Amino acid sequence: MQPELELAYVGIEVPDPATLTPFFGEIIGLVAGDPDDGTLTWRNDGRAHRVIVRPGPANDAAFLGFEAVDDDAFDTIATRLLRSGHDITEGSDDDLRARRVKRLVRASAPWGVDVEVVLALDEASTPFASPYAPGGFLTEGVGFGHAVFATTAFDASHAFLVEGLGLAQSDWLEMEIAAGIELEVRFYHCNERHHSVALAKAPFDMPQKLHHIMFETNERDDVGAAFDRVWATDLAIANGLGRHDNDGMFSFYVVSPAGFQVEVGHGARVVTDPWTDNRRYDRISRWGHQPVARA
Ligand SMILES: [Fe+2]
Repeated sequence: MQPELELAYVGIEVPDPATLTPFFGEIIGLVAGDPDDGTLTWRNDGRAHRVIVRPGPANDAAFLGFEAVDDDAFDTIATRLLRSGHDITEGSDDDLRARRVKRLVRASAPWGVDVEVVLALDEASTPFASPYAPGGFLTEGVGFGHAVFATTAFDASHAFLVEGLGLAQSDWLEMEIAAGIELEVRFYHCNERHHSVALAKAPFDMPQKLHHIMFETNERDDVGAAFDRVWATDLAIANGLGRHDNDGMFSFYVVSPAGFQVEVGHGARVVTDPWTDNRRYDRISRWGHQPVARA
């Protein structure tokens, strides 16, 4: 596998972007990006921005950026999107400035967000340093993390990711979570990160398409420290500390003030080349990830 893509950024639309500032900054441990137009942005490494928060009514993810590794990969993916039947539009000069990239094409993903394929996401003006994540985050060659969406357009979304963007399925989860209620989630990679995107099959349109975004710390203790910071707030902990079965990630899930969740994790397995472990899992976690009831 010659990686062509990595996850560049996620765009989130909420009525009041400032309500997410203490959450991303002091709880998750991201640092402010350095935009020049007043947009609130966040980063977990040396790039200009990894989370872009814009004002608007959606209260959900609005767009997802994938960075092509070079011009050839960018052209290949744009062509592949077109050939697989997806309309693409060229980014305007304003788009390039706002996203801080050299090239951009945009397609509408079947799960209801815009997917932007970009080239050459800017470096930030200063190196990444967060007092809340002293070990930093794992992003080199694997993008900022992962994003998981719930969709009723499950098969069309799968086709978009695989035939359009060229991602490959890592594995899938199929289990009965309650009597007669099946959970199916498919996981997709485009580099060594076990999954950059996952899709959950939704039985009906959910109030939010974005289930969670994940940031992976370099140090295991930084996950525990983040858990302690969440514990000291009244933020809901959707799932306490645990270890996933498929990617082996040690993590927990906190509910953001906007309703979508953030997973903070460490130590996921990496995808090898060739990948021969695309198989069904029947449990989310080896241990833990219990819902946390708090007084
Ligand atoms: Fe996750």
